[in-house]
Amino acid sequence: MRLSHVSHQFDGQLVLNDIELHVSPGECVAIVGPSGSGKSTLLYILGLLRKPDQGAFLMNERDVFELDEEQRRLLRLHEVGFVFQQAHLIPYLTVLEQLELIQEKKKLDAKQLLTDLGLGHRLHHLPATLSGGEKQRVAVARALINSPQLILADEPTASLDYENGRLVMELLAKQAHEEGRRVVVITHDERMLDVCDRVLRVIDGTLTELNKGEGHHN
Ligand SMILES: Nc1ncnc2c1ncn2[C@@H]1O[C@H](COP(=O)(O)OP(=O)(O)OP(=O)(O)O)[C@@H](O)[C@H]1O
Ligand SMILES: [Mg+2]
Repeated sequence: MRLSHVSHQFDGQLVLNDIELHVSPGECVAIVGPSGSGKSTLLYILGLLRKPDQGAFLMNERDVFELDEEQRRLLRLHEVGFVFQQAHLIPYLTVLEQLELIQEKKKLDAKQLLTDLGLGHRLHHLPATLSGGEKQRVAVARALINSPQLILADEPTASLDYENGRLVMELLAKQAHEEGRRVVVITHDERMLDVCDRVLRVIDGTLTELNKGEGHHN
């Protein structure tokens, strides 16, 4: 999938300026950059949650921004998985129910997926009884339940300690490396960059490829 000549402005300010971004199956891409540089805006465009002022987003040879809203909604449901900084679980549903709520077709077994993510002993627990790391792993499981081809994460480790953050990053990277998905992760934590294949920095509206190891000046 590919963003081509994507530009977007808010209130007359150009946030993204003629962006090109190609993400291949099996690739985990990290996005870094200063606060307010447009990282989340870029991720929302990739997640079909925001239509850019200009440019195309080619997915399976089609420009998804030429589809109607209903087709985009279906694509979002089937092909995109989101993970945010906070897990945003529904407080009165158990771990298993969080997944069953949004499961479209029985492509994956929810219990098996949760077990694979180390949550087999938490299936019938409510969010309030989980640790931060467990909650975030439920959020990852929820992003994966419909087997999307694209996984997007906006600072998924920001509310976690290093060990748990690392676990979540490794789970995301594994989705690319072992399942052939495309993963795009925004992170401020340079210690997490090594699990990704490429690091891109958003600065002054443009994307620059960083050599791994120089990401800490973000
Ligand atoms: N819905 C909106 N309406 C107006 N301006 C917006 C909107 N969303 C974002 N912006 C502005 O666009 C710029 C980029 O915002 P964005 O959230 O993409 O940055 P970011 O790189 O994700 O920052 P952070 O690291 O703080 O999360 C900021 O100046 C922000 O104020
Ligand atoms: Mg952001």
